[in-house]
Amino acid sequence: MTHSEFQIVPATPDMLPDILALEEACFSSPWTRKMLEAELTNNQFAHFLVARRQEESATQGRQPRIIGYHCFWIVFEELRLMNLAVQESMRRRGVGVALVTEALRLGSEQAATRAVLEVRISNDSARSLYARLGFVQISQRLRYYTNPIEDAVLMEMSPLVLSDSLQRDRGAVSGGGSASTNLL
Ligand SMILES: CC(C)(COP(=O)(O)OP(=O)(O)OC[C@H]1O[C@@H](n2cnc3c(N)ncnc32)[C@H](O)[C@@H]1OP(=O)(O)O)[C@@H](O)C(=O)NCCC(=O)NCCS
Repeated sequence: MTHSEFQIVPATPDMLPDILALEEACFSSPWTRKMLEAELTNNQFAHFLVARRQEESATQGRQPRIIGYHCFWIVFEELRLMNLAVQESMRRRGVGVALVTEALRLGSEQAATRAVLEVRISNDSARSLYARLGFVQISQRLRYYTNPIEDAVLMEMSPLVLSDSLQRDRGAVSGGGSASTNLL
């Protein structure tokens, strides 16, 4: 797919089936529908963003519109990145960076001063994405994950700063609640 576009928008409950499908495709221990639903509708700290194709490209070839999502919490001064996934065929096009950048922007807007996350130690792609955005490793949690058992790396951005250099490289993400980006 070339020269399509995606938008970052807040998730709504009707998007749940697509988000669940993405979750199940991307993780060995996926969140269940109930867990996703609870984050989406019943957690005052949780925020849920999706990346979706623009209308025209979504109808062509009947591809699902939701190509990525990001769940994060803003708990007072702390932004916690909880879950991030991008459809396999749409990776390396800036969707992940756009989702996390929007979370950082919203966190910063709500006075978060620090961002944290955990990631599997073997997850080079995610670790590299977070490092490019300015996160640094601060500790390791032994055997934190199951299926398979694996250590977690704890990463932090403190203070939380918004760097727009990656976005400029990618040629987009406008401010405001809804960002549009050209897929390369
Ligand atoms: C991690 C993930 C969300 C990245 O999404 P993405 O849309 O492909 O990420 P981006 O295109 O925005 O990548 C931005 C940067 O991250 C790094 N990166 C991303 N994927 C990478 C890979 N496979 N190998 C090396 N670096 C990678 C690169 O620095 C990349 O910039 P570049 O393409 O200019 O080199 C995606 O691979 C994914 O959904 N993985 C499965 C679920 C998962 O592991 N989620 C994270 C849980 S913590």
